[in-house]
Order: sequence, then structure tokens, then C-alpha cells
Amino acid sequence: MSEFVEFELDGKCVRLPIIEGTAGERAIDISTLRDQTGYITLDSGYGNTGSCESQITFIDGEKGILRYRGIPIEELAEKSSFVETAYLLMHGHLPTMIELTHFSKQLTENELIHEDMKYHFEGFPSNAHPMAILSSMINASGCFQPQVLAAHNRKTFDVQAARLLSQVRTIAAFAYRKSRGLPAIYPKPIYKYSANFLHMMFSEPYCDYELKPEVVRALDLIFLLHADHEQNCSTSTVRMVASSRASLFASTAAGVCALWGPLHGGANQAVLEMLEKIHEDGDDGSQFIVAAKDKKSKARLMGFGHRVYKNYDPRARIIKKRCDELLAALKIEDPLLDIARNLEEAALTDPYFIERKLYPNVDFYSGIIMRAIGIPVEMFTVIFAIGRMPGWIANYRETIEDRSGRIYRPRQVYQGEPLVHYVPISKRG
Ligand code: CMC
Repeated sequence: MSEFVEFELDGKCVRLPIIEGTAGERAIDISTLRDQTGYITLDSGYGNTGSCESQITFIDGEKGILRYRGIPIEELAEKSSFVETAYLLMHGHLPTMIELTHFSKQLTENELIHEDMKYHFEGFPSNAHPMAILSSMINASGCFQPQVLAAHNRKTFDVQAARLLSQVRTIAAFAYRKSRGLPAIYPKPIYKYSANFLHMMFSEPYCDYELKPEVVRALDLIFLLHADHEQNCSTSTVRMVASSRASLFASTAAGVCALWGPLHGGANQAVLEMLEKIHEDGDDGSQFIVAAKDKKSKARLMGFGHRVYKNYDPRARIIKKRCDELLAALKIEDPLLDIARNLEEAALTDPYFIERKLYPNVDFYSGIIMRAIGIPVEMFTVIFAIGRMPGWIANYRETIEDRSGRIYRPRQVYQGEPLVHYVPISKRG
């Protein structure tokens, strides 16, 4: 039986339906509020706003739970791979062996970017940030797939989605090579997804990069853990752009731009820069913790806190364990890891962080793993973007396939001048 919330506003009884999610979360559907009352809701930063109903990812931030299509992230991290998890997100179920083989084949067949795209890479200055290149080139690659810019058709979409997922890593690796003045390395069909990316990043025309299984596994895990995270800033951006019926390429290129900021995906780069600075300053983290609590200092403990998690981010727990294992396997002793551990220990027992429920998030330890793999710091957010692509694709599809879906168009409460009249330039002060 449907439930409603009723309240009185300006002497009128207002009745709004209550929507319940499959995991028991409850929401008040306010879509008729303005029609009934003339009022809108105001929720700066959208902390209390559900922008859609979705079947892709579930998060319980209080309990520290993350599930893709209902499957706990811990199970996927232990048993699945990035490609299988991407299929799960994009198609809604775990693939059969035949489906997985077909999907892997699609990724392999589409790993090469159009040769003419190389001219676009040449147009960027050598010090261009790879996130800028990635976003531009994803959008540009849409021009090479005019089918996807036309009508939406499920079969064409599946091929284009696989092409995008495959080529995002080729574009990312080419962007890195370009930013270092190095020749592009083409993908090799014999390599699986993450190994192929490492090959394109680090091989040279005269010698192949040595693929260590523990390194490939660590990178694959990073991709998998980033694969989706419900309505975060970049995914909401993808859905926003998709709601206007823009193409998959245009929408995900916008997602890359949103991800770039240091409060979102750019945090992994910011974490490492913070740890490097603490190390350079000869601090063990204790002075930095003091600064991070001081509102006048502008310092923030990057990699800590989350809009949704008010508990330990489950991805951070998994990544921290893998970080310890990888550094031990590679026999790397990293002073930045010691600083990170000190910061975490201090923050978890400090009333400032406890009261505000600030815990390590996924970015806190991922940078140390990427550094151990040899990935340069300016590529950290690019790695996040590759990992997030299946989630963006799944959210794009959900938005486009929602036939009742309207263009996303929030309102505002205007606080500017009520009415002023145009003053000719000769009469202005
Ligand atoms: N260090 C110090 N203080 C913090 C931090 C931090 N990392 N994060 C939040 N606070 C304080 C903040 O100053 C505020 O204090 P007060 O109530 O006294 O004004 C309180 O905690 C609430 O913070 P908020 O900024 O209102 O929280 P938010 O939900 O708007 O922001 C956040 C969430 C992730 C942007 C923020 O915690 C932050 O800036 N963290 C550091 C950046 C980071 O690690 N981002 C990656 C997020 S996970 C990956 C992703 O999904 O993109």
C-alpha cells in the first residue's frame, strides 16, 4: 500500500508520496510540491536530494556498505576482475562464460583508436594535464563513431560502450606518452585489460615492459574498486548531460572534467602531493594534523572524509591491505606509507575527526599503490577515470532508457537585484 506524508503549508494540506528503495531507504517524492504549493526545496550541495531511482549501486554510508548490482564490494574485490565487474555494472548481471568471452573479445577488437586521432594528440602542449587530454579525446573519438551520435539502439550501444571502455585506456596511455614526449605504444591483443594498459604506458618500441602479476592484479583491483559509486559529482554530471540526450562520448567526457577536481577524483593526486610535502618538511604527520584541524590554515587532510560515508570507506579497507601486500612483494619501503599510517592513526583517535565522522576514503592509500607501480602522480586521476568508466556507461544507459525521464533541470532561489533598469554608459558612475 502506498504511503504518504501530509503537512500543512500556507493553510493548505500537502500530500506527497513516500518512495521506498529495495534496501529500505525512504524518500519523499517532492515532484508535485511546486504544483501543489508554489514552493520548491532548497538543498545546496544536494546532501538531501535523490536525483534518480537507480538499480546499479547501493551505498549505506553509515554502515560502510558498498554493493554493485547487489554484490558486496569485498566479494568482487576477492573473486572478480575489472572486466567482469564492468560487465556486471553495464549489463546488470554477472556474465556467463560465453558472455564474458564475447565481451573480452569486443574489448580486444576495439582497443585501437582511429589512426587519425593521433593528429589530435599532437595539438596539445607537451605539459598538458592528461585529464584535459583524456576528456577532449573521448569527446573527439565520438566524432569517429557517428552511429553513436545518432538514434539510440541497444545493440549499437553495446558495441559503442565496449569500444569506449576499451579505448579509454588506450587514450589515457597515449596521453601520458604524449605528456612525456614519448612515442605511442600500441595495444597488444594477447594482453588482458589491465596488463595491456601497463604495456601501453611503460613499454618502449625497442623493449617490452615486464608485467609482474602482483602489479597487474593491484592495478586491476584499483580499477574495480573505482568502477561505480552511485550519484557522486562526476556520475551526476554524466546523467545530467545524458538527460539532454547528448551522446555517450559527450556525457562521459563531461564526467572526466567533473572528476578532475581535487575534492573528487583529483583527491588521489592531492593525497600524494600532501604526503610528499609532509615528508619534505621533515614532519611525521603530527604537525599536519594540527593544521588540517585549523580552519584558518586551509589545509585539509586529503583522502579523509566523504559526503556519504560516515564510517570507514569499505574500498579504503581493501586497498590498504593490498597496498601492504604489494609493497612487501616488491620489497619497497616507502616513507610516505609510514606518514600515511601515522596520519590515519592520529585522525582516528582525534576528537575533531571522530565528531565529524571523517574516515579514510578510497584515495588515501591508492596513490601509494600507484606510486609503487611507477604511475606518475599526474596520471592518478586518469586511472580513477578509466576505472569509473563502466559506472558512467551504466548510469548513462539507465538515464537514456528511462522513458519517463525528463531533462535534468534544477531550480534556484534567486537572491540578486529584484528589478533594475538599463543605464546608458554615459550615465554610469
Ligand atoms: N580534513 C579536515 N577537515 C575536514 C575534511 C578533511 N579532509 N573533510 C571534511 N572536514 C570538515 C569540514 O571542514 C567541516 O568542518 P565544520 O563542520 O567544522 O565546518 C566538516 O568536516 C564537514 O565537511 P564538509 O566539507 O561540509 O563535507 P562534505 O560532505 O561537503 O565534503 C569531502 C566531503 C570529501 C569533499 C570532504 O570531506 C573533503 O574535502 N575531503 C578531502 C578531499 C577528498 O579526500 N576527497 C575524495 C572523496 S572520495 C573519492 C570521491 O568520491 O571522489
